Formats: sequence, C-alpha cells, structure tokens
Amino acid sequence: MYDPSRSHQVEQLSAANYDRRMTQEIDVSFLPEPFGGKSLTGTFAVVIDVLRASTTIVTALAHGAKCVIPFSTPQEALAHCENLKTTKNVLLGGERHGILVDGFDLGNSPLSYDSQTVRDCTVLFTTTNGTNALLKSTDADEIVVGSFVNLSAVTRHLTVRRKKVRFVCAGTDGEVSFEDVLCAGAMIEKMARTSTDEFHLSDAAVIARSLHRQHRQTQRLLFEALKEGRGGRNLLELGFEEDIEFASKVDLFEMVPRYNPREGRIEPISANG
Ligand code: MLT
Repeated sequence: MYDPSRSHQVEQLSAANYDRRMTQEIDVSFLPEPFGGKSLTGTFAVVIDVLRASTTIVTALAHGAKCVIPFSTPQEALAHCENLKTTKNVLLGGERHGILVDGFDLGNSPLSYDSQTVRDCTVLFTTTNGTNALLKSTDADEIVVGSFVNLSAVTRHLTVRRKKVRFVCAGTDGEVSFEDVLCAGAMIEKMARTSTDEFHLSDAAVIARSLHRQHRQTQRLLFEALKEGRGGRNLLELGFEEDIEFASKVDLFEMVPRYNPREGRIEPISANG
C-alpha cells in the first residue's frame, strides 16, 4: 500500500503486480531549456504553465478549438495570420505583460476561451513563458500540456505510455514558478498512487513531490496557494483573480493536449491515443 511518509526515491508495489511492473523514470526541469540544462531526447515531456498558458490551452481545446498553434512572439503570430488564405475561424490569442496584445482577439484568460468563442477555431497563441517553454521542448519524443485542470488525464496518459517522463516547468522570465513545480509534484504523487509501476524519481522530482505534500498537509485551498507565487501576485495586481480560481480547479477537463512540432500544432489526444 502507498505510504506517503516514505520519502525514498523508489515507490514499491504490491506483490500481485510484481510481474507486470517496470521502472518509470521521472524528472522535473524547474525551468525550460536552456536554463534547465538537460536534453529532452528520449523523454516524454509535460509542459506546465499553470498561470496561465497551459490552463488556457487545455481550456481552449476542451471547449472545441480545432487546434492551438504556439508562437514565440506576437509578431510571428500576426505574420502567420496575414499569410493565411482566410482568417475565418482563426483567432489570435495570448498576452504580453499579462494583457491582451494589440490587434489580438483574445488575451490569456482561460475564461475567455469559452465554447461559443473558440469552437472549430484555430488559435494562434503566444505568451511570455508558456508557449516558449513548449517551443523549447521540441527534442522530446512526445510533448503534452499539463495543468491542474487536466491533472488526472495527463497522469493516466503518462502511466499508460510508461516512458521516461520530464515535467518542464515554464517559470516566469527565467525564474522558477511555485505553482508549476507544485503541479508537477501533484502529478508525480498521482502517478505513484495510481500506477502499478515503480518510479525512480530524480532529486528535482523529489523536491516537487515534497512541495505538493507540504501543501496538502496545510489543508489550504489550492486557490489560496496559487496566489502566493509571483505569477499569482502579478495576476492579482492585474485584476485576474478569477483566472487563478479557474486554474485551481483540479480535473475540470478530461483532455490531454499534445504538441506536434513537425506540424506546429497542439491538438487533443484522441481516445485511442
Ligand atoms: C506566460 O506564458 O508567461 C503566462 O501564461 C503569463 C500569463 O499569466 O498571462
């Protein structure tokens, strides 16, 4: 049985599952490359920017957007838009300094990506840290987008894939973000609780899981915790408290977005993988 008091790096399994078990390696990059300093080759990357890019991408796709195309800068997104034959069902979305970019249809508030607005649309999307974390993760074997709103869906996908996992936290302007590491830790805990496999955690993964356990022990609402980091405080200053509350809703969506760098698109993973 799972014992949260044990802080070793390998999670044990019940004897009944012994024959089927394998060891899945889990690591966390507190920042995307090049700050993380590690190659993603051979790994399954989960890119996390809880406040707010990954929460917004999940929400847009869960509400019926056809795909999200990430761009590094607003200029690149605008240029792509200008080169399209038609801009019917195309939305420009994202932020700089937390707010709507001039000429864009939508900012980075997940609440504005409702079904009525995004259904069947392609979203050209650029944010300060989140989309760049995705674009810097392209050497991974597979890249998915994770947040609290799709926590269980992501962890289920990871345990089925059984590959070496690397959580890539987007951070803020080259600094580690509390909420991204907390989310990585919550996913690691969930994997250990629900999978029959063994897990080998890197020290960074142990740190993320410890942060999650420490948060759980305080019994504080996740919403309150998310206000504590720099990202949360920035959003409060900008008047986006509702976005923080939305981002704290665990398992709101049963959907995993996958980024395909060859096609440059993020789309939901279909039921058959
Ligand atoms: C980012 O990518 O930097 C964030 O999503 C910023 C924000 O909260 O808008």
